[in-house]
Amino acid sequence: EKGTYPHYMLKEIDEQPFVIRNIISKYKDVEENIKLDETIRQAMLDADRIYIIAAGTSYHAGLVGKQLIERIANKPVETHIASEFLYNMPLLSENPLFIFISQSGETADSRGVLVNVKEMGHKALTITNVPGSTLSREADFTLHTYAGPEIAVASTKAYTAQMAVLAILAVDTAKAAGIQIDFDPLQELAIVASAMETLTDKKEVLEQISREYLSVTRNCFFIGRAIDYFVGQEGALKLKEISYIQAEGFAGGELKHGTIALIEEGTPVIGIATQEHVNLSIRGNMKEVVARGASPCMISMEGLEEADDALVIPHVHEYLTPLVSVIPLQLIAYYAALHRDCDVDKPRNLAKSVTVE
Ligand code: F6R
Repeated sequence: EKGTYPHYMLKEIDEQPFVIRNIISKYKDVEENIKLDETIRQAMLDADRIYIIAAGTSYHAGLVGKQLIERIANKPVETHIASEFLYNMPLLSENPLFIFISQSGETADSRGVLVNVKEMGHKALTITNVPGSTLSREADFTLHTYAGPEIAVASTKAYTAQMAVLAILAVDTAKAAGIQIDFDPLQELAIVASAMETLTDKKEVLEQISREYLSVTRNCFFIGRAIDYFVGQEGALKLKEISYIQAEGFAGGELKHGTIALIEEGTPVIGIATQEHVNLSIRGNMKEVVARGASPCMISMEGLEEADDALVIPHVHEYLTPLVSVIPLQLIAYYAALHRDCDVDKPRNLAKSVTVE
């Protein structure tokens, strides 16, 4: 039930710190080590390449998942949109492991791929919020995201939960492979949970940002580089699906190859800067759009901030910034939908779980 909340979406945004703490407790053993099924660990070790398959927001979590697994566990990963995979199948490696990411566990596009790869004799792991769902039952293994029921059509807490579980999985695989890492996901996720709280407490600021930039605009762009680019795509999806503002997430470096032609006087551009190695270049891209009239809204992370930034998020480990930087984007989208009188929890033309291909 949504209790005192006006919308499920707002309640679910606020639940994210609790979800992350819940995930920490579910994936921790008595000695404070990662607790994960031995068969999943072995399947990760045996795979020579991982194929992540998902749709929508879960696909965006999969883009971050690729980075996590490649950087932490040193294993090659490809992330694919489920509805495209079968029509445009990549050359598979010899021992692939398929990871399906799905909040509902019922998405027909993802199931289509699962049925096919099982027929081909490959192993599959489903990361889902609904154990017992179709994708969970038909895969060899399941990892539960423990986010609790997600009712709002726009996915929020399921996304951050999926990335938290992917981080734990990546570290578990690295450890099993004997890779030395100085990143404790359980500790770092606890820091993430607190950082999330700091941001869910900033609703007035975020409502104001949303009012200023989005109450009348026709479109809005999100720019980022590296992992921030993936979060930008998710921010754009949230905004378009509930506020009907045309929104796109672009890679900062791609602007000059075409997109910058779209910038007009007053076009809102939301920049995300949480990664040190791309901080200067994304700020350079922001200057380029400002020179063409854009209204800049920079969201940066503590340690990388500059005086004019609209919002500075608390510092968290560089691998986990998407779990935190997405919170202001979710809230900005929420308030944009409210200001524009849209049905936040049930946007037009959309269904919570898409069981047709
Ligand atoms: C966006 C959204 C959708 C879903 C997509 C996949 O807010 O909710 O894009 O993420 O339909 O759904 P699941 O994760 O249930 O497979």
